[in-house]
Amino acid sequence: MKDQDKQRDMYQFCLNMKERYHTRYDDLFWRFFTMVIPPKPVTIAEYGVGPGLFLRDAIERYSLKKAWAFDYSEVMLDHASQHIQGVNAEIHFEKVDLQNEVPRNVPAGSIDIIFTGFLFRALNKPIPLLENWKSLLSKRGTIVIYDFGKFELRTFEEEWSKKGEASFEEIVDRYRNFSRYSLDDLRVLFERAGFG
Ligand SMILES: C[S@@+](CC[C@H](N)C(=O)[O-])C[C@H]1O[C@@H](n2cnc3c(N)ncnc32)[C@H](O)[C@@H]1O
Repeated sequence: MKDQDKQRDMYQFCLNMKERYHTRYDDLFWRFFTMVIPPKPVTIAEYGVGPGLFLRDAIERYSLKKAWAFDYSEVMLDHASQHIQGVNAEIHFEKVDLQNEVPRNVPAGSIDIIFTGFLFRALNKPIPLLENWKSLLSKRGTIVIYDFGKFELRTFEEEWSKKGEASFEEIVDRYRNFSRYSLDDLRVLFERAGFG
């Protein structure tokens, strides 16, 4: 087991992700997603694939033919490859810490859907990844970042105390990651990464 998997109980985290999958990826999500992706997409790359439930659903819903899946956790990658087994698509799994490196082996201009769910907010230096995404997108390609937006500590604390899972100190600690980028921050980051 590698460092990322030791730092937290990644197996339990993975089970939680699977259990709550349908609350994150509900009908509203899929309606929105279908509206923003290009018609008849062929390829997808997912960053922070987790247990792979989204990726499998996306491949099957849109009959995708080729997928790239990245995560820094071996536990997540193992679950994802098992979950996605048997789908009719070519899938490449790769272990990569997106905080420090950018996957380099995806062919330029080849990806119709670049997707990341509940990861982008955790990235400290997202510009190299955004620059990479710009080069990977096919002519009709779309980037979808699905994540928590920036909000006030008061709101964050109210929401998390309802779940009763964490102390105030833990909530404040989580707040840094959960409340990182607003929509306007994303606009600035995309501009800096060279998007028009
Ligand atoms: C909250 S989970 C979301 C998983 C999946 N996208 C979903 O919505 O079901 C975030 C995922 O990103 C991965 N992750 C977090 N930080 C990462 C990093 N620096 N590099 C690569 N993967 C990372 C975690 O291992 C986890 O699988």
